[in-house]
Amino acid sequence: MERGRRLEYLRAIGVEGWERRNMPAPPAAVEAAQLPMEVPPETSSIQRQAPVSKSIERVVRPPVVRARPDEPLSADAQSQWESLTAEVLSCTKCALHSTRTQGVFGVGNRRAEWLIIGEAPGAEEDRRGEPFVGRAGQLLNAMLKAIGLPREQVFIANVLKSRPPNNRDPKPDEVAACLPYLMRQIALLQPRLMLAVGRIAAQNLLATDMALGRLRGQVHHFGELNTPLIVTYHPAYLLRSPADKRKAWEDLKFARSTFQRLAAQEQ
Ligand code: URA
Repeated sequence: MERGRRLEYLRAIGVEGWERRNMPAPPAAVEAAQLPMEVPPETSSIQRQAPVSKSIERVVRPPVVRARPDEPLSADAQSQWESLTAEVLSCTKCALHSTRTQGVFGVGNRRAEWLIIGEAPGAEEDRRGEPFVGRAGQLLNAMLKAIGLPREQVFIANVLKSRPPNNRDPKPDEVAACLPYLMRQIALLQPRLMLAVGRIAAQNLLATDMALGRLRGQVHHFGELNTPLIVTYHPAYLLRSPADKRKAWEDLKFARSTFQRLAAQEQ
C-alpha cells in the first residue's frame, strides 16, 4: 500500500507518528519470533511442542493445494459451505440458542487466505447476523486495511456462533459445542494464516490460560492442518485502552510479514 494511504489508515485506528526515526524498537518477543531458526523467549506449551522454524514448518505442514483466489468454488465445496451454514443457523447444541436472535456464521471470501477469529457475537452482530459489525468491527476493518487487507478479502468468524447474554464470557461447554463448526470452517477455507483477536479467542484456540501479552509475537499452530496462528488484542479492548494500539500495530506488521514469508515458502 502506498505510504500516504497507510498513514491515513493508521490515523484511523489511532496510531500516530509510527514512522518517526526514533520509534521504539518492536517488543523483544516480536523480534525474536522473526528470527526464523530461534524459539522466542516466551513460549506457550503448544509452542514448546512445535517450535517454529522454516524447516520444521515444512516437515509438519501437510501440503495444501491452493486454488487461485479468483477461481470459483467447486460445486462440492459450495454445497459443504451451504450445509455447514444451515447447521450453524439451526444449531441447538448449547443453551445459547434459546437467548440469541440468530446464529452468526461468519462472513467473507470463501477463498480467503486470512481467517480472523473473534470471541462471540455482540448485540449488533446478533441483530444483523454478521460478525464484527459494531464499533469494534469498524476498528477491526481499519486495522485490516492498515495492512492492506480490505474486509471483503478475509474471512471473519467467531469462536461462538451465538451471543452470550449480556456479552458474558463464553462457558467451556459452549466453546466445546461450537468449536467443531470453526474447525469445519477452517477445513473448508484452508487459510494460510489465522489471526485470533482477543484473549478469549486466543486462549480457547490454543487451549491455554496464558495471558494474551505472553501469546503475542509468536507463530502458534492450530488444528490438524497446523494452521499458523498469530494473536493480537481485541478491537473492543483497544477502544477502551487506546494506548495499546501501538502494540496491536506491531502485531499486525508481524502477521503481515509472517504471511508474506509463508506465501513465499509455498511458491
Ligand atoms: N466481538 C467479537 O469477538 N466478535 C464479534 O463478532 C463482535 C464483537
